[in-house]
Amino acid sequence: MSQKSVLVTGACGEIGQALVQGLSKGGYRIVTTDLMPLPEAIKPFSAEHVQGDLVYRVKQFYDYDFDIIFHLAASLSSKAEIATEEAHRINVDGTMQLLMLAAYKSERRGKAVKFLFPSSIAAYGFANVEEKRRTGRVKEDDYNTPHTMYGCNKLYCEKLGIYYSNFYAQRHLDPQPPVMCDFRAIRFPGLISAFTLPSGGTSDYGPEMLHAAAQGRPYACFVREDTKISFMAMPDAIKSILMLVDVPREKLTRAVYNIDAFSLTAGEFRQRALRAFPSAQITFEPNPRRQGIVDSWPEDIDDTAARRDWGWKPDYDIDRFFDEYFLPEIRKRYRTPNRMTKE
Ligand code: SER
Repeated sequence: MSQKSVLVTGACGEIGQALVQGLSKGGYRIVTTDLMPLPEAIKPFSAEHVQGDLVYRVKQFYDYDFDIIFHLAASLSSKAEIATEEAHRINVDGTMQLLMLAAYKSERRGKAVKFLFPSSIAAYGFANVEEKRRTGRVKEDDYNTPHTMYGCNKLYCEKLGIYYSNFYAQRHLDPQPPVMCDFRAIRFPGLISAFTLPSGGTSDYGPEMLHAAAQGRPYACFVREDTKISFMAMPDAIKSILMLVDVPREKLTRAVYNIDAFSLTAGEFRQRALRAFPSAQITFEPNPRRQGIVDSWPEDIDDTAARRDWGWKPDYDIDRFFDEYFLPEIRKRYRTPNRMTKE
């Protein structure tokens, strides 16, 4: 069987770096693209890196023949509120361009190009924190009323992906419908890596607090102590992407799946950080806008569909996350200074 060719956009981001490493074990030919040059750590795994603004680069990818597109490039939720129109351009125009490419190539090849899209808990939106607490776990089709530009962009791109893979130009009604692309999305909770730090997100207080504690730096958390959302270890996020890409299409009952690992409050994060690093200095100085964003996101996720359809199950619950992933890795990491990659 010939080697599968894949495109990873946003390859220098947090998920991107981890995914490229994960894919490198699968024998794929990996083409990467990002605004930034590739970090040294993943350079050996990329057959070719295309640096530049995705929106203007997509036309060059018409010369390639990708089996799978992992479209990770995005402007995250806090940053997107500061530059709203630019975020829309990156998040929506970039996705649209790539979906058009996937649709065109699927028809030409007579074989569906798979399109993997990381969506987010930002696609949800509660009117207020009381509604959030009262509701608890959310299913994919509930509370799809995002408050943020990023959340609106993610939700709309989910819909665009479904359109391009099922109803594109109403060609599904043709006597001989063309092969369309195969769009699959995962709504991620806040992700935490021991190796990289996020930038521009609103769930960033979790990873920022833990990395600061491990480095002995004081940290002022930008949300209240009682703020609760769902989080996940980066290796589980990568596992979920690699699982979903391999599931036979007929097993999928939907295109967009929630996945979940553990939920905890910012105060519980602090307690866990203090247990590992007793001299950590963590205070709470809520920023009203960022607080409002997290208050609109669910505190727990119902991932029944992913568990049922493709056997999703995280490896890391809260205890395993700290004891078997984050703490051992972060201790090694900060013993070797200057190896952090900030996205
Ligand atoms: N982690 C993202 C953010 O905070 C949400 O998907 O923007």
